[in-house]
Amino acid sequence: MKGFHVAIVGATGLVGQEFIKVLGQRNFPMSSVCLLASDRSAGRKLRVNHEEVEVKETNTHSFEGVDLALFSAGAEVSNHFSPIAAGAGAVVIDNSAAFRMDPEVPLVVPEVNAEDIKEHKGIIANPNCSTIQLVVALYPLHQVNPIKRVIVDTYQAVSGTGAAALEELGEQARQVLEGRSVVPHVYPHQIAFNILPEIDLFMDNGYTKEEWKAVEETRKIMHANDIAISATCARVPVFIGHSEAVHIEFSEPMSSDAARRILAEAPGIKVLDDPNISLYPQPWSVAGSDEVFVGRIRRDASHDCGLAMWVVADNLRKGAALNAVQIAEAMIERSWI
Ligand SMILES: NC(=O)c1ccc[n+]([C@@H]2O[C@H](COP(=O)([O-])OP(=O)(O)OC[C@H]3O[C@@H](n4cnc5c(N)ncnc54)[C@H](OP(=O)(O)O)[C@@H]3O)[C@@H](O)[C@H]2O)c1
Repeated sequence: MKGFHVAIVGATGLVGQEFIKVLGQRNFPMSSVCLLASDRSAGRKLRVNHEEVEVKETNTHSFEGVDLALFSAGAEVSNHFSPIAAGAGAVVIDNSAAFRMDPEVPLVVPEVNAEDIKEHKGIIANPNCSTIQLVVALYPLHQVNPIKRVIVDTYQAVSGTGAAALEELGEQARQVLEGRSVVPHVYPHQIAFNILPEIDLFMDNGYTKEEWKAVEETRKIMHANDIAISATCARVPVFIGHSEAVHIEFSEPMSSDAARRILAEAPGIKVLDDPNISLYPQPWSVAGSDEVFVGRIRRDASHDCGLAMWVVADNLRKGAALNAVQIAEAMIERSWI
């Protein structure tokens, strides 16, 4: 198999580090890797598959000879450098929100819409972390019994905000336990021992942008513009792993056994669901895993066609780096790169 020249933009960040891990763990066919970040990290060395590789500052020449450019350095960097990388001949897979709703850019979760990849014009977008795990769980059910409405409440880990937020949670937890005062830097309020129903900016309609991403991205990925969706996204004091309480209204009634069977056979999903032994997915135990975990599957007592479930995944893996690498693997399998 051909080895690809891969560039990772944002290699020193949480998602960038996960890219390095996932590429190695999956034996991704790489003939070279170029680690890119800002001038702050230029010269640092990171271990890639037992070799020390020096981090370079991202510039307009960084993408010469690159086949695949994996971006995770924020929307501003993506907006500036992704077109340059695509212009130099690389296929860009971008983790930021910069291009997700651009009609010219496929927004892909391979378990759902791998075929959309072939419409790309150089840039493919990786969806928002909480949307990825949601659509992996919704799509197999929707294929059997079309979904009319979804209400989702998310409980999102601080690693979704990046490396600085991980540090902030650890530091604040120590400060609280030692009786010291807490000064928040990353979030508008203390996150340790607290919950913040605010992720990304507030919009005029009262939702946050994070909540609106769940609405728009879910419809785009599932090609289902008429599904009604409402989301409430909360940041919780968890290091890794986003959890979601999902309420679905189908076209027809669906039993919990039928849903459990469909989900157990669906790609990328593991069902953990036995109330008798308190078996259900938890962020602590799914961190480091590739699958989307589903439990607490039950008929929604408030609606004849309703079903409720609890969905948890590692936001740095399936919610970011792994999904992007799976997009690249899907392209390789189909000889699209
Ligand atoms: N964390 C998640 O769960 C998650 C999930 C999905 C998508 N994403 C997206 O992935 C991106 C990165 O997230 P993260 O959690 O990895 O953040 P992070 O830990 O804060 O890392 C940010 C990375 O971006 C680099 N960077 C910053 N400014 C740059 C510039 N001007 N030029 C080149 N590189 C620059 C940083 O390099 P330096 O070391 O030089 O500062 C660092 O490598 C964001 O767009 C985020 O929305 C994150």
